[in-house]
Amino acid sequence: MRRLAPALLLITISIAAASAQTIHYSDARKLWLITTPHSSYAMGIGPQGELQNLYWGGPLWRIEDLPAAREQKDISSFDPHQMLENEEYPGWGGPRYYEPALKITRADGDRDLVLHYVSHHIDGDTLEIDLKDIRDDIRVTLHYRVHPDTGIIERWSTIRNATQQPITIVSAQSATWHVPHGDGYRLSYLSGRWAAETQLNREEIHEGMKVLESRLGESGHNLNPWFAIDPGDADEAHGRVWFGALAWSGNWRITVEQTPYRQVRITGGYNTFDFSYPLAPGESLETPAFYGGFADHGFGQASRLLHDLERAHIAPHGASARLRPVLYNSWEATTFHITEAGQVALAEKAARIGVELFVMDDGWFGARNDDHAGLGDWTPNPQKFPHGLAPLIAKVNALGMDFGLWVEPEMANPDSNLYRAHPDWVMNFPGRPRSELRNQLILNLARDDVKQYIFTFLDKLATDNNIRYFKWDMNRVFAEPGWPEAPLAEQQTLWVKYVRNYYDILRRLRDKHPDLEIESCSGGGGRVDLGVLPYVDEFWTSDNTEAFDRLRIQEGFSQAYAARFMSAWVTDVPNTNHRSTPLAYRFLVAMQGALGIGANLNKWSSDDFALATKMVALSKRIRATVQDGDLYRLLSPRTNDVTANEYVAKDGKQSVVFAFRHAQQYNTPAPAILLRGLDPHALYRIESPDNQLLGGATQLSGAYLMSRGLDFQLEDDYDATIAVLTRVD
Ligand code: DGJ
Repeated sequence: MRRLAPALLLITISIAAASAQTIHYSDARKLWLITTPHSSYAMGIGPQGELQNLYWGGPLWRIEDLPAAREQKDISSFDPHQMLENEEYPGWGGPRYYEPALKITRADGDRDLVLHYVSHHIDGDTLEIDLKDIRDDIRVTLHYRVHPDTGIIERWSTIRNATQQPITIVSAQSATWHVPHGDGYRLSYLSGRWAAETQLNREEIHEGMKVLESRLGESGHNLNPWFAIDPGDADEAHGRVWFGALAWSGNWRITVEQTPYRQVRITGGYNTFDFSYPLAPGESLETPAFYGGFADHGFGQASRLLHDLERAHIAPHGASARLRPVLYNSWEATTFHITEAGQVALAEKAARIGVELFVMDDGWFGARNDDHAGLGDWTPNPQKFPHGLAPLIAKVNALGMDFGLWVEPEMANPDSNLYRAHPDWVMNFPGRPRSELRNQLILNLARDDVKQYIFTFLDKLATDNNIRYFKWDMNRVFAEPGWPEAPLAEQQTLWVKYVRNYYDILRRLRDKHPDLEIESCSGGGGRVDLGVLPYVDEFWTSDNTEAFDRLRIQEGFSQAYAARFMSAWVTDVPNTNHRSTPLAYRFLVAMQGALGIGANLNKWSSDDFALATKMVALSKRIRATVQDGDLYRLLSPRTNDVTANEYVAKDGKQSVVFAFRHAQQYNTPAPAILLRGLDPHALYRIESPDNQLLGGATQLSGAYLMSRGLDFQLEDDYDATIAVLTRVD
């Protein structure tokens, strides 16, 4: 595909802006063109009525340029035309053997489904296209919500059984995406495990299928529902990148498939694993949103577009969301050994260094002295809090901080009053073992009584106490996901209904307590996805808070998620993997997200307090740029002995550069760090709070900074530094 010349691009943008119309339809040629300043997307109706994808890529402005959808010729009896066309949302039926978007079984065993166009409706930036099986009243509405500011399209589907017979859905996908036909594409994705989440991978796409998925009941530590595809030559700043993220916190699946005909297809939605969803006559099922976008300036721009979308259109409060406060969390300091006096002592120290939100973690409730008991009994432990939580919260508030509380609502320890009263509430297959992980079982949140119980206790906690923030944790994966009380045919809907009820509780809590903030945590980053983002303000990134490991985890996280959602703590050393890094290094790593402190402040020296106070003040000065600005990943920890990231404020007035040295080789200087995203014609005042900048210049032009770059004195292992640039007008 040819790139548009800059002049043409300008015309494109001005036409799109002038017409202010995003979705165009040509009745004569039966095709749609969705166009935004960043990307275009086109579909057409084929001669038989099947919906075909015609284009996804850089912005187009002329609908007449697009060829109408046509029927391909069969190549052989093994290569029917149905396999050669880029069907937008294929049912499994006829001779179609690539990954279907929808697969069903009728009550009589008939499984053939061929979807054809029926009608469509355009309303501003949304398009709905109705499809129907060629014989039966099995209907699908394809939803397209276009976000013109980023060019990202949000797609999902509603599947409706308008027949008189029940059907069972065995695969319900949100969308199929097609990149232009070709070879040599590369897939980027995020994989990992507990304490090593969001590691970035890049690999060539060949014929066959790669499956990214979770079967764990949550989005999971192992793979994250995000992908990017490039023609093999993109880097952070250059090249075409198609990217997407699936908004679902349960079992999800994204397949990336190259067919023998050089089609590259991405299909995503509910995981087909153990999936069976009956629809009685008149019932429907909605699939999660699958966001897809296109960037012409590499992986960096792809991330920035996603970050913009998340901040403006997905996360709570949109553009008016407050900057993330500096948080203190007691977990690594105390683990379960919580007392009121101990928390007060930590809170007093946290307040001294400028913390704004004090969060008490696990161990405050029921018989919770270790991980064997108490989950499910959400009242303060009477020995630890003889007068309830009120005195501690009052003290925290008097110190000028908000109060946050850890909860793990979906769980029960067998040793809990809740489990003793309701053993039937946990998911189980009768007569089979109930697998405990971390000595806990999972409540079946698909049940409405369980949902009501969880909402009620959380609502009571938030009503009775001045709680600003819940850290909602989930410390195990599903096992034995049985729902014996439900009709047999509906038991497997647990996978979907569980997640919908989880979202519903979060939504209701936020509606009732508008100032309440929530962190999504699952033993670190097991529940980081766009499905829960409308209801949460931060994600707990990883239980691995070791700063050098974090650089990679954060690099991966930042591919898909904006810095303001990335909770990052400074903790004590040696940590997780026995590594020790200087306190300044740990602060500079954590300041690239929503800064938190999780250290045992009782053990800090006066020098530590002095440094921390300075670092917290500095983070407050730059956090708007980090959290709401544009991220440029300059040097990757995967490929360099120096990692560098730059954040540029949206108004261009402030930029911040962070650099970290790993293991240096004797006498090897750190490389020059070339900045991006500046105005070449502007002058920038450079501040180096730790005096590690070489050269002595206090003002430099954007051109110099981007072409020659900055030299930092990063001589020792785990040296770290920061430069703050202010545009001088
Ligand atoms: C797992 C979380 O990721 C930790 O931060 C901490 O909250 C523990 N659970 C508490 O049990």
